[in-house]
Amino acid sequence: MQSALDPAGAGSRAIYGIWSLLFWVCTVVFVLIIAALAWAMARHTSRRPVETAPIVVPASRGERRIAQVVGVATAATLVILLVFTAASYSVGRALFSPAEPALEIELTGHQWWWEVRYPDPQPAHAFVTANEIHIPVGASVKITLRSDDVIHSFWVPNLHGKKDLIPGQDNTFYIAADRPDTFRGQCTEFCGLQHAYMALFVVAEPKEQFARWIATQRRPAPAPANDAARRGQQVFLSQGCPACHTINGTAAAGTTGPDLTHIAGRLSIGAGRLPNTRGNRAGWIVDAQTQKPGNRMPRIALAPDDLQSLLDYLDTLE
Ligand code: CUA
Repeated sequence: MQSALDPAGAGSRAIYGIWSLLFWVCTVVFVLIIAALAWAMARHTSRRPVETAPIVVPASRGERRIAQVVGVATAATLVILLVFTAASYSVGRALFSPAEPALEIELTGHQWWWEVRYPDPQPAHAFVTANEIHIPVGASVKITLRSDDVIHSFWVPNLHGKKDLIPGQDNTFYIAADRPDTFRGQCTEFCGLQHAYMALFVVAEPKEQFARWIATQRRPAPAPANDAARRGQQVFLSQGCPACHTINGTAAAGTTGPDLTHIAGRLSIGAGRLPNTRGNRAGWIVDAQTQKPGNRMPRIALAPDDLQSLLDYLDTLE
């Protein structure tokens, strides 16, 4: 799901182009050098011992030939380096002169998850989600990158190169996808114990589907519709969960951990650690430290009935 060799956006395609150029030119150069080396070695060993070898070519003619070969090789190296420099410069320019963005997103790195904010001129339409970015296919998307603690780095190889999230500094970045798909991304700057499990997904979808997703995210969580979910909501609100998590439409408004208003609709939990299934949610709630040691989620010792009710409630948060 994650490969820089399968470009799906203008940025990754430009990077793939220069990667291919460097790869094939360097491959040809490598093969030629090894062939020349092998030829020289074979020629040397097939010669008779030096003391009995007749002098076939006058020394001056041999030296002239060597000088010509070295001159041609040096010129070829210079031309190749100039081509690489020009290609690198033009790709760099293409990457950093983006199209007018159709959508703006704010991405904040935390140890070890991603906070994704969709701002809106109407504050009531703004919303926050986690570890998952949805974008419409074909649109240029501007992402403002921030960090809440240490330096992280945002990398979705199928769509673009890397850009750091630095505490106290806003970086901007543009991505676009030209086909509907789900692309995996990964934090690519070592940021502590769970750096390797700091993943996210970019879901590129057709315009109508994206509009439906936006409409869902803007809604507060639905009120529990049955007794089990009502009981589960009580468990959630009474067990300390609201200290870290927000569920819009309830009193829970913590911001230390991911916003859970629409948790059931996401692909993963623990920032790509586990597929988002009911069983994995149960395992995560009671013992997130085994799944992702060092993360901020404490072990929550719940009675089995309470856990089942809480899971029933979380199932409704789509
Ligand atoms: Cu965040 Cu590595």
